[in-house]
Amino acid sequence: MILCTDIKQLQRLSATARQAGKSVALVPTMGALHEGHVSLIHAAHTENDLTIVSVFVNPTQFGPHEDYEKYPRNLAKDCKTAEAAGADIVFAPPADKLYPHKDPVWVEVTGSISKVLCGRTRPIHFRGVATIITKLFHIAAPDNAYFGQKDAQQTEVLKRMVDDLFFPVRLHIMPIIREADGLAKSSRNIYLNPAERKAALVLYKSLKQAQKLFLQGEKNSDVISTAVRSMIAAEPLSTIDYVEMYTLPGLITVGKILDKRTLLAVAVKFGATRLIDNTILEVDA
Ligand code: PAJ
Repeated sequence: MILCTDIKQLQRLSATARQAGKSVALVPTMGALHEGHVSLIHAAHTENDLTIVSVFVNPTQFGPHEDYEKYPRNLAKDCKTAEAAGADIVFAPPADKLYPHKDPVWVEVTGSISKVLCGRTRPIHFRGVATIITKLFHIAAPDNAYFGQKDAQQTEVLKRMVDDLFFPVRLHIMPIIREADGLAKSSRNIYLNPAERKAALVLYKSLKQAQKLFLQGEKNSDVISTAVRSMIAAEPLSTIDYVEMYTLPGLITVGKILDKRTLLAVAVKFGATRLIDNTILEVDA
């Protein structure tokens, strides 16, 4: 496996592969790789000839009081994990090379798709994500790119970006990988102390309860969100940011009666750590 930190070198590696008729996959990450990332790398490796994993803690998607500085970084360990999962190249460029100008060119997916859910408390977040993914798509020129359903709003934003800007790349959205007890794997789980880690289980439990109600025939969006909200609120260490539902695709406000595909998304703080999770309620499921 190659560790590449140079933009031009990565462009050459990708171009050479494509000229040889090989399919190229990109798995964008911010490192601190866990089994969620591994599942994406594994899928990319299985379905493509060349798998590039980017490891880059993207400064522009963090707000001023967020955890950019303390975000976990361990490139040597990430290289081992990525290689074992099937990566051919880890791309880890320095920040000043990816953002060479003080005033960057922004890519912004406008409208409610970036403003609802996490967009409300993280107003610049999705502009940062869309901008870095544009840069990575231009550099790596992948045929296929792999993302996780864990970040459901991010996938909706990126689908819109790819569609609106005619990127010649196919997005693959992979299922949420969870710990044995149901907590969604996240690089931020390490911030939780043991009591918070235990409390955070309420996220998965409440989403499961919502699925159960839905499958039993409950289609009233208020009833479902109230059930989820009260389960989470009953956990003393939790502070709810949001419990909301939007129709898929495109994150459109739900009506009173749920139909087709609905994203039920939650963001909750346990101590200083904000976790997100979601499930999709599907009428024909
Ligand atoms: P990061 O949080 O490192 O996640 C990288 C990819 O892994 C994302 O597509 C995310 O949805 C996926 N992922 C994370 N946890 C997962 C889980 N438990 N199960 C399945 N997939 C999971 O998301 C980002 O980085 C950044 O915003 C990025 C897209 C790299 C842009 O900087």
